[in-house]
Amino acid sequence: MYSNPTALLSGDHSILTQYALSTILMLGLLFLIVDRILGIKRSDAEPHFLPSGVPYIGHVIGIIRRGVDYYDEMTAKHGKLIYSLAMPGGRLYVVNSSEHMKSIEKAYREISFWFIEASFSKRLSGISNASDRVLKANAEGVKGEASLVVDGMKATHAAMGGQDLHDMVERGLQRAARILEELESDADSASGPASHCLWSWTQHVFSLATSSAVYGPGNPYEDLAVEQGLYQFEDSTMLFLSGLPHQMFNRKGFAARETIVRAFTRFFADKSDEQASQLVKNRAEVLRRYGIPENDVARFETVNGFGILLNLLPTAYWTIWHIFSDCTLLDTVREEAQAALGADASLKDKRCVDAAQQLPLLNSVMHEVLRYNTTGAAVRRVMKDHVLSGQFLLKKDSYCLVPNKGIHFNTDQWGVNARSFQPDRFLKGKTNRESFRGFGGGVNACPGKAFAARLILTIVAALVLRFDIEPCTESGMLDHPGHDESSMAIVVARPARKYRVKFVRRARREE
Ligand SMILES: *[C@@H]1O[C@H](CO)[C@@H](O)[C@H](O)[C@H]1NC(C)=O
Ligand SMILES: *[C@@H]1O[C@H](CO)[C@@H](O)[C@H](O)[C@H]1NC(C)=O
Ligand SMILES: *[C@@H]1O[C@H](CO)[C@@H](O)[C@H](O)[C@H]1NC(C)=O
Repeated sequence: MYSNPTALLSGDHSILTQYALSTILMLGLLFLIVDRILGIKRSDAEPHFLPSGVPYIGHVIGIIRRGVDYYDEMTAKHGKLIYSLAMPGGRLYVVNSSEHMKSIEKAYREISFWFIEASFSKRLSGISNASDRVLKANAEGVKGEASLVVDGMKATHAAMGGQDLHDMVERGLQRAARILEELESDADSASGPASHCLWSWTQHVFSLATSSAVYGPGNPYEDLAVEQGLYQFEDSTMLFLSGLPHQMFNRKGFAARETIVRAFTRFFADKSDEQASQLVKNRAEVLRRYGIPENDVARFETVNGFGILLNLLPTAYWTIWHIFSDCTLLDTVREEAQAALGADASLKDKRCVDAAQQLPLLNSVMHEVLRYNTTGAAVRRVMKDHVLSGQFLLKKDSYCLVPNKGIHFNTDQWGVNARSFQPDRFLKGKTNRESFRGFGGGVNACPGKAFAARLILTIVAALVLRFDIEPCTESGMLDHPGHDESSMAIVVARPARKYRVKFVRRARREE
């Protein structure tokens, strides 16, 4: 998920999925550094350089034309765990190995994610030049020197555990409880249940639950224009990063972003942050301490929506879809959910706050969703020459890319069924989680993973206990909607085809 330095879900959930970043990067390298086009000095100590059909620009063309798939093809064709792609003006190192990924995580200052986030924040958020300078100052996090990126990350982590986490989960569940109650009274009404688009409904429930948990009573996302503005903003990510003039190329995206910025400006002006979660308080405190003006604090919080919501929504969707489209799985999940939540399954019940721990199968399904369909990659910038794993020289100012797919579909780690969806794969003792990159890893692991997981698991558990889903499709089934991989902002694909369903109340089970 994308994040600015103070974002909730930062790290490898970068908005800069490999395609977005490499496209921008390569176009930049291609067009701006033409003077250096005649080749780079290669060292034998570097990872093996793959040959390209067209000299100098062959790989760039491949990446622009085929995006993500180009790396998969190259990895498969050459069978290397790490290799170099020479480009005009520089090189890109591509890694398909969890061992090397771990070495990259350990060298997080030399091989920097923070530098990349800081470099792209201004275009996305529209902060002032002065705030941008503060953000970029020591973005690589040299020890002992002030760094907004590092302090922002620490403040985020500090607010994501213990009582703070508990309070957030509780508030999120309270909000979801109200929506499920509305759904029940709708189902009981004389005209019977109305139909809902399953994707929009999932987005709505989980955005409101998550954002109420984070922002408290003044939650700006209660305004539908702000909630939907975030989706429009997400769709316009590439246009923002491209730096093309908004008036000509990005009217809708720009308008959407500014709607959210205005809502957050009001939020802070009204001091609603004082009633929000510790997370919001901590982040605002760090920004203010670094002298960031209030209107830019609102801009940072606007972009945080990406980190807080955008990957959580498709994860929740696919978890629901996989469970409801498999009757056997649905039955087993229901048994588990009933034991954890009780027959009422009221999210207002205090015991629900900790119920997620008692939902191991549901938890496994959610992890499998994150493993199976991640499109993201870890992207890093090499800040100075570095010898990776004691073997490979990585040159200063190059980029490293670790596509998740290669690691998630590796049969050595995941077994022969690596390419199929196995709901129980993550049950205890069944699998080696070391190679799971769904929440990133190392210092840049997603700080919100416990929070996101608890909300998704508990709300889905209540949903399966209280409702059946009747699809309004021609087949009468929950058809596989296909994957929409067009968003550059997220690592979990959204459903491609949207269809409507009815939520029908289940008869309450006999005790
Ligand atoms: C990455 O490497 C593993 C072996 O370590 C291999 O199974 C997998 O197919 C590779 N990924 C790609 C995309 O080729
Ligand atoms: C911000 O910096 C850019 C270039 O770095 C410059 O073109 C622009 O005029 C600056 N904006 C302000 C308001 O100073
Ligand atoms: C999800 O996984 C299935 C099966 O491997 C594949 O057909 C589909 O393209 C994947 N989608 C994404 C977004 O990775």
